[in-house]
Amino acid sequence: MSTAVHPAVTVCNHPLVQHNLSILRDKNTSTEQFRATMSRLGKFLLMDATADLPTTRTIVETPITKAECKVLSPDVPILIAPILRAGLILSELAIDIIPTASVYHIGLYRDEETFKPVTYYNKLPSTIDYSVARVFVLDPMLATGGSAVAALDIIKKLGTNVSNICFVSIIAAPEGIAHLTEQHPGVRIHTGSVDERLNDKAYIVPGLGDAGDRTFGTM
Ligand code: PRP
Ligand code: URA
Repeated sequence: MSTAVHPAVTVCNHPLVQHNLSILRDKNTSTEQFRATMSRLGKFLLMDATADLPTTRTIVETPITKAECKVLSPDVPILIAPILRAGLILSELAIDIIPTASVYHIGLYRDEETFKPVTYYNKLPSTIDYSVARVFVLDPMLATGGSAVAALDIIKKLGTNVSNICFVSIIAAPEGIAHLTEQHPGVRIHTGSVDERLNDKAYIVPGLGDAGDRTFGTM
């Protein structure tokens, strides 16, 4: 159910992803419905993006007999890195499906005139071996790519391995994909859609509007 449109990009074409995306795009969707839909869609995307997490074998005693099972590899820490604020809703569901993950909140907002990212918060979990960690950077929108590139600059300085980093977005613009892949080659991108372009305010077209405002009702 996934297709690649660029070697680094996987678009999840699952019908449930595309169905929920149409609800998010609709300008008449209420804040309450938007949040719930974002959460549902994010879960499908994250299931797709985490499909190659490493596992190890273990034996479990069932009420009947022994069963050979697979569990998430205990030697590979998982780091969820939401870009605030719109990434928050995705991180809540990510820790719901991966309870052992640590969360690294990165506060960035896009200056409305320059469209450049401004960092305002950075809270790093300290007990992780970053060199082997699998990192999922979460932000619903990849527009110019400025916020994504700034977040990845921070994450790479921790000593993470670029091939272990995945950027998960609901919608990506071609301009953002080009910027991210140029600045951070080797990072994988999982998204629900690659849209047409950016408009003169650097909003994604057709997009869904301002993801943070629609998620938190601050329009
Ligand atoms: C939005 C979005 C991304 C960023 C994408 O956040 O959630 O973080 O814009 O744009 P870019 O690719 O051009 O950097 P915003 O700056 O609106 O902050 P918010 O989440 O606090 O609303
Ligand atoms: N940020 C958003 O929330 N939406 C866009 O279309 C672009 C940046």
